[in-house]
Amino acid sequence: MLKQREQFTSRLGFVLAAAGSAVGLGNIWGFPTNTANGGGAAFVLIYLVLAFTLAYPALMAELTIGRHTRANIVTALQGLSPRPGVRLTGRLVGSYGILVASLILCFYSLVAGWMAANLASSGAALAGLDRPAAWLARDGVPRNLLFAGLFSLITAGVVSEGVKHGIERWSSRLMPTLVALLVALIGYVLTRDGAIAGLTVYLLPDFARISSTLVISALGQAFFSLSLGVGTMLVYGSYIREGDSLPATGAIVTLVDIGVAFLAGLLIIPAMFAGRELGVEIYANGQLQAGPDLIFRVLPALFDSMGPLGNGVATAFFALMTIAALTSSISMLEVPVALATETTSLNRKTAAWLVGGIIFAGTATIAVFFDPLFGAVVTLTTEFSQPLLGIALCLFAGWAFNRNALLEEIRAGNPGAQKTLFWKVWPTYVRYFCPLLIATVFVQAIFL
Ligand code: PFF
Repeated sequence: MLKQREQFTSRLGFVLAAAGSAVGLGNIWGFPTNTANGGGAAFVLIYLVLAFTLAYPALMAELTIGRHTRANIVTALQGLSPRPGVRLTGRLVGSYGILVASLILCFYSLVAGWMAANLASSGAALAGLDRPAAWLARDGVPRNLLFAGLFSLITAGVVSEGVKHGIERWSSRLMPTLVALLVALIGYVLTRDGAIAGLTVYLLPDFARISSTLVISALGQAFFSLSLGVGTMLVYGSYIREGDSLPATGAIVTLVDIGVAFLAGLLIIPAMFAGRELGVEIYANGQLQAGPDLIFRVLPALFDSMGPLGNGVATAFFALMTIAALTSSISMLEVPVALATETTSLNRKTAAWLVGGIIFAGTATIAVFFDPLFGAVVTLTTEFSQPLLGIALCLFAGWAFNRNALLEEIRAGNPGAQKTLFWKVWPTYVRYFCPLLIATVFVQAIFL
């Protein structure tokens, strides 16, 4: 039986959902610290170039394939061409994408659980419950399992409600909240002593820091940040209405993603320097702190030193992180759930809870065997698999996708398409240059 396929109700609905996927811990945590350690505005410049020349074209590959096939990544890729070789490759690449999306979600939910636990901790401190607050702020396996579990329940709950009533509705509520929290926090932090020194480190370019390693880290950051390669954008693209222009919509999502990353830099780096003013150690081995110590030691030390307001600021900060993580996790879970609902007889609710449960088992395994697993899963999925899958998706869009159908997809909702630069450049670009360029950067990364 053919089930009725859902769609986003409006272009804004899609933009909020896709921006919700893109804007996540990668923007608020990853981008500012990579920037500060990578030569400030010099890194931002490289990031902008890569985001528009490589990540945006790859995003468009996912969106066009998704909307044309109206299916999950496996069905979509294997259905692009009737040739048996392409069908088989499509099935393999699609399945690998599903696996990578699920593995990213395994570690991402764990990190999101840390954020949620700290949110609960600052909320408890705000209510004067000092002992529970202290327990919630302390890293430990039981706490991590509890909060990653809660976070996974919420993620599965949203996805089980479907595209319109779950994903779109919650993204439309959470994304404006996220931007409001971010802007309010920036406004507050910039008034603190020392914040301006942070702005200088963030915004003044230091071109001496540019190196091939930096370019690679900017590429990885761009692919992770735009949620590329794993079928998230493909499946969200499959729910876009026929009348919406894909190139413009994709560009808006890219701009929102970059914009929020940039804004996050205006928060995190000045906050660190405001902390230094109060005696918080912000450097480790000559580099600005970037890992978990930044989020769970440096920033909390700053909040502690702010007096009574500190708990409120901490609550707002961890709410921001939890919301950012939630809209991204929803999009990751949608990837395997769409496959399950479209290729088995499972309904959405059962699929969301079942797949969510399996992925949580992975999260719990990483929580328990943290040292050997966490770093390995992050590297395998984000540094290796996402760029490789990005190359594969560009090749599918460029070679397996029927040329006329591809052009038709660009034209849909976009009557003046033929006159645009996108029309003239992208179809050829995604075929040859984009995969080659990603591959070049990737190969350098491996052999450096
Ligand atoms: N884009 C998200 C972030 O920047 O945190 C991470 C992400 C979401 C990666 C969805 C992959 C994905 F499929």
